Amino acid sequence: MTLDGKVALVTGATSGIGFAAARRLAEAGAHVLATGRSQSGLETVRAMLGGRGEAVDCNVADPSAIARLMESIAHSRRQLDILVVNAGVSNAPAIGELTPETYDGLMDVNCRGALFTFVHALPLLAQGASVVFVGSVAGSKGQPGDPLYAGSKGFVRAFARGAGTDPEILARGIRVNVVSPGPIETPLTREATDDEDARAYVEGMIPMHRWGRPEEVAEAILFLASSASSFTTGAELTVDGGMAHG
Ligand SMILES: NC(=O)c1ccc[n+]([C@@H]2O[C@H](COP(=O)([O-])OP(=O)(O)OC[C@H]3O[C@@H](n4cnc5c(N)ncnc54)[C@H](OP(=O)(O)O)[C@@H]3O)[C@@H](O)[C@H]2O)c1
Repeated sequence: MTLDGKVALVTGATSGIGFAAARRLAEAGAHVLATGRSQSGLETVRAMLGGRGEAVDCNVADPSAIARLMESIAHSRRQLDILVVNAGVSNAPAIGELTPETYDGLMDVNCRGALFTFVHALPLLAQGASVVFVGSVAGSKGQPGDPLYAGSKGFVRAFARGAGTDPEILARGIRVNVVSPGPIETPLTREATDDEDARAYVEGMIPMHRWGRPEEVAEAILFLASSASSFTTGAELTVDGGMAHG
C-alpha cells in the first residue's frame, strides 16, 4: 500500500500514538504535517520525518490556532488527503472533585479541539480524503477509571460516526472513521505502566492479557487512511486486545 503523493496532517504527533502514526504514514510515502505543542517533541518528530514532512506548533485547545494552521496550509496551496485527529489528554480528577476548570481542561482538547480540527480542515480536504479520529475503548465500554475522559471519547466516537455518514461529506468522497485503542504504552499511560500493580490490574481486563504498542494502533490508522479501506466509513475499529467486547 502506497501513500506516494498524499499529504497527511496528524495532530498530537509529538509522542505516543500520534508519533507512531506520523512515522508509519511517512514510511508509506505520505508527506506528513505533524503537530503538537512541546518544543522538544516537535524537534524529535521533525528529526524523525526528515524530508518526509514538517513539524508544526499548534495548540488544539485554541480554535484560532487551528484556524491559523489551516490557513497556512491553504496558503502553501496544499490539500489534505489524510487527517488524523489524535491529540488528547486524560487524567481528570475523581468525579466528586471535578470543577468547571478541570472539565474545560480536558474537553477543550478532546472534544472542542477534535471537532474544530475537523471543521477547519474541511475546506482543505481533497476529493476522496480519509479522516481518522482517535477515540478510545473507554468511549463505549463501562469501566472504572476516568469517566470524564470516557465521556469525551464517547463524543469523539459518536461525532466521527455521524460525520462518516453525512451526505455532504460523502458527496466529496470523504470517509470518516474512528480508531479506538485499548490500553497502549505511551507517555499518557506511564503512571500506570510504571506501577506493577496498576499494570497487572489493567492486563487483567484485557482478553489478550497485555498492553498494546503505539505501532499497532498506527497500522490500524494506516489502513483507514489508505484506499485499502475504500468501502469503510462511519466505522469504529478497535485496537484493544479484545477489551471492548471481552
Ligand atoms: N495510550 C492509551 O492507552 C490510549 C488509549 C485510548 C486512546 N488514546 C488516545 O490516543 C491519543 C494519543 O494518546 P497517547 O497515548 O499517544 O498520548 P501522549 O503520548 O500523551 O500523546 C498525546 C499527544 O497529544 C498532544 N496534545 C495534548 N494536548 C494538546 C493540545 N492542547 N494541543 C495540541 N496537541 C496536544 C501531545 O502533544 P504535546 O505534548 O506536544 O502538547 C502529544 O503529541 C489521545 O487522543 C488519547 O486519548 C490513548
